[in-house]
Amino acid sequence: MRLFNTKILGTGSYLPERIVTNKDLSERIDTSHDWIVERTGIHQRRVADLSKGENPSGMAKEASLKAIEAANLTPNDIDLILVSATMPDQSMPNTASVLQEKLGITNLCPTLDVNAACSGWIYLVPMADAMIKTGLYKHILIVGSEMLSSFNNWDDRNTCILFGDACGAAVLGRASENEDSRIYSSILTCDSTKKDHLTLMAGGANKRITHEVLDKNEQWMTMNGQQIFKAAVTTMAAHAERVAREAELTLDQIDWFIPHQANLRIIEAVGTRFNIPASKVIVNVDRFANTSSASVPVALDEAIRDGRIKRGDNLLMAAFGAGLTAGAICLKY
Ligand code: UT7
Repeated sequence: MRLFNTKILGTGSYLPERIVTNKDLSERIDTSHDWIVERTGIHQRRVADLSKGENPSGMAKEASLKAIEAANLTPNDIDLILVSATMPDQSMPNTASVLQEKLGITNLCPTLDVNAACSGWIYLVPMADAMIKTGLYKHILIVGSEMLSSFNNWDDRNTCILFGDACGAAVLGRASENEDSRIYSSILTCDSTKKDHLTLMAGGANKRITHEVLDKNEQWMTMNGQQIFKAAVTTMAAHAERVAREAELTLDQIDWFIPHQANLRIIEAVGTRFNIPASKVIVNVDRFANTSSASVPVALDEAIRDGRIKRGDNLLMAAFGAGLTAGAICLKY
């Protein structure tokens, strides 16, 4: 069977207009700009406005149109839509179906939502790669669209300072024979022994949202920040090392490291363990905070559009999230 190499044909992103600064939060809860910057590196985050169409599918439409345009394609060229949304538009229909309609796609392409929390978009890359390699699909739209503000308890200083809303998208397709773009290596894992460190237990089949749930404030996410911090650093660094080794690339040959943007201290600790210079690490957590599965594709798109990432560069991307899911990808852009 003939195998194809997978190439990132185009990327796009969308950030909601509304900016919420640390100062804004400090007027509502017992925190300060200095505490948030010192512990997380975050200065501000974007928050979606439903009245402006900024929900997961709405943000995904804007990011996807940019990615499709950058790929020199039209929406009907997309033959599979995969969307990572930790909190989708609604339970049914899935967000990817709504996105198909919003993009004006009439070719009846299949649509699928996945939930691997912050690792969701990274999970989609090897899945799309396998389907492009084998020729099953030609142009796969992979989207990380996250509206964490919808389950972020704005009165809980332990969590609310960390998160923001955003969407990142990419179109993956076949590299032509004279191109060397490819996905070299990937790893996806889940350590379910740590699944209780980041949860949102109400709102699913086990626990419907009732007056009792609301009275107990159980409709929000809860997090054991320190446990997640430790797991994030060790797992992302180990995964990054492994995919670089499997790609047979030395650290010098890696042009850019794009880690999940959860906390600047996590990014720096991973960079130190992985031994990659800070000048090669893409960071935007200061401006956008943790946008879950949107964070890596947003950072990727930003660095492509501002000219830092160029065709032929070797990229290493890594993420972790609730589950605890984690993954890393090494590729030639
Ligand atoms: O995509 C995955 C999502 N989750 C993460 O990535 C979270 C990873 N974890 C973290 O980023 C960090 O653990 C946090 C930023 C959440 C917390 O930083 P920390 O250095 O681990 O602080 P801590 O939890 O040890 O709290 C230190 C102190 C505590 O006070 P006491 O007990 O020492 O008096 C907290 O109550 O800071 C207090 N605190 C705050 N103070 C001001 C916690 N949150 C805040 C706040 N403002 N927002």
